[in-house]
Amino acid sequence: MPPTIRDARADDLPAILAIYNDAVCHTTAIWNDSPVDLANRQAWFDARAQQGYPVLVAVDSDDGVLGYAAFGDWRPFEGFRHSVEHSVYVRSEQRGQGLGPALLRELIERARACGKHVMVAAIESGNGASIRLHERLGFITTGQMPQVGCKFGRWLDLTFMQLILDPGTEPPAADTR
Ligand SMILES: CC(C)(COP(=O)(O)OP(=O)(O)OC[C@H]1O[C@@H](n2cnc3c(N)ncnc32)[C@H](O)[C@@H]1OP(=O)(O)O)[C@@H](O)C(=O)NCCC(=O)NCCS
Repeated sequence: MPPTIRDARADDLPAILAIYNDAVCHTTAIWNDSPVDLANRQAWFDARAQQGYPVLVAVDSDDGVLGYAAFGDWRPFEGFRHSVEHSVYVRSEQRGQGLGPALLRELIERARACGKHVMVAAIESGNGASIRLHERLGFITTGQMPQVGCKFGRWLDLTFMQLILDPGTEPPAADTR
């Protein structure tokens, strides 16, 4: 049965927290060393809601959270307001079943609906599953940054990928203030 993708609710946050902290402790998908608490994820969730940005979850038939995806502003300057950076995480024992692609497909549609122009993915260069997932959904590699991070006692390289959501769209008129 295809996964159900829906908007996250506050009561999904403990499950989202568990997925996030598992990625912190066991992967190079998040370049932090320390797990966070529920208040941290609540603040993140509230910030997304305040901006009108979605947080999506993939759920099973009992409404249990299997994965989640979200985006936020890419860089905190006005000129970047049409670009967002996203993340997608699937519970470790649920990977390889198409949940990541399902979440990302829906997230792309939501970014279009928000009027965004570009989605940016910042991926650890050794994360082949994530790079292939993004390639399949039309993202292209636009940057390679060797050794900009470190975790688990080694340097990490960063690969930037991006998708233009509305190719050919004219930029907004210049602000003449
Ligand atoms: C990257 C990620 C979101 C992909 O989601 P997914 O639901 O596993 O995606 P898919 O079902 O398309 O499978 C991805 C790949 O994992 C392989 N796979 C199969 N079984 C697997 C398993 N048990 N565990 C892990 N990967 C498995 C799939 O065959 C596929 O390989 P391919 O790319 O060569 O075809 C997911 O692996 C994940 O959450 N990883 C940890 C967090 C992360 O890296 N997030 C992205 C940060 S940029």
